Amino acid sequence: MGKSQSCLEQICDLVRECGQFIKDADRSQMRIDSKGGRANFVTEYDRKAQERLQAGLLELMPDAHFIGEEGTTQAFSPSGKFFIVDPIDGTTNFIKDYRASCISVGLVVDGTAELGVIYNPYLDEMFSAMRGCGAFCNGSRLHVSSEPLENALVIFGTSPYREDLTDRSFNLACAYFKKAVDVRRSGSAALDMCSIAAGRAELFFELSLSPWDYAAGALIVKEAGGLVSDIDGRELAYDRQCSVVARNAVVQTIPLGA
Ligand code: 2AM
Ligand code: CA
Repeated sequence: MGKSQSCLEQICDLVRECGQFIKDADRSQMRIDSKGGRANFVTEYDRKAQERLQAGLLELMPDAHFIGEEGTTQAFSPSGKFFIVDPIDGTTNFIKDYRASCISVGLVVDGTAELGVIYNPYLDEMFSAMRGCGAFCNGSRLHVSSEPLENALVIFGTSPYREDLTDRSFNLACAYFKKAVDVRRSGSAALDMCSIAAGRAELFFELSLSPWDYAAGALIVKEAGGLVSDIDGRELAYDRQCSVVARNAVVQTIPLGA
């Protein structure tokens, strides 16, 4: 077994352990704090999962830096190794027990995503990818679909914390709805990207996301043969928020404002 394959497996073990802890959470006693603004919450489970992930990942790779949604002292830089982690992606779903949340761990080395792991503890689905080695779910190779827009399921995120984007998000979703089979909204951008990678849907967009929402998912989509960019076709950044479009290689995109 190669060194990176064994590292990936150890990360999957750590992520699975945290997933179990999220799945077994006692919501009746849970403390929920607002991080300010609309629909922006954090629970003690987000914080505890991040602590465990940070300790475990840095033990595996002591020369890496750690960036997590729930507070971080590190700033991204284009050189060096960075774990970019969302301890719970889909926090509102988690609070509601809607059962569509996951853990997302990306590893970016010298500005390039090298490894991505996303775990859905509710379905026990472990998505993973290493650059150049393909994307997998529970050991099975993933491939994006080859369906065009007229046969597409389009997933979108509503960026609820950015009220200035609401009309643009829903207008674009409406434009896709009119050309595709239907639209979906799950509440977890990382799981949405896994759905694109697995060929369960054809296109995902959200007008504002943070690097921990897409660092792992973007690699998983690309390694499954899909395309990922921001809404203007540019590469995703790891040092700031951006829009995300993830899709299979044939589906036609609709420009913002069309
Ligand atoms: P979260 O559940 O980890 O907070 C929902 O539209 C998607 O947007 C989820 O993946 C959610 O991640 C993410 N999200 C929530 N708040 C956000 C914020 N303030 N900035 C960027 N993305 C956010
Ligand atoms: Ca989160």
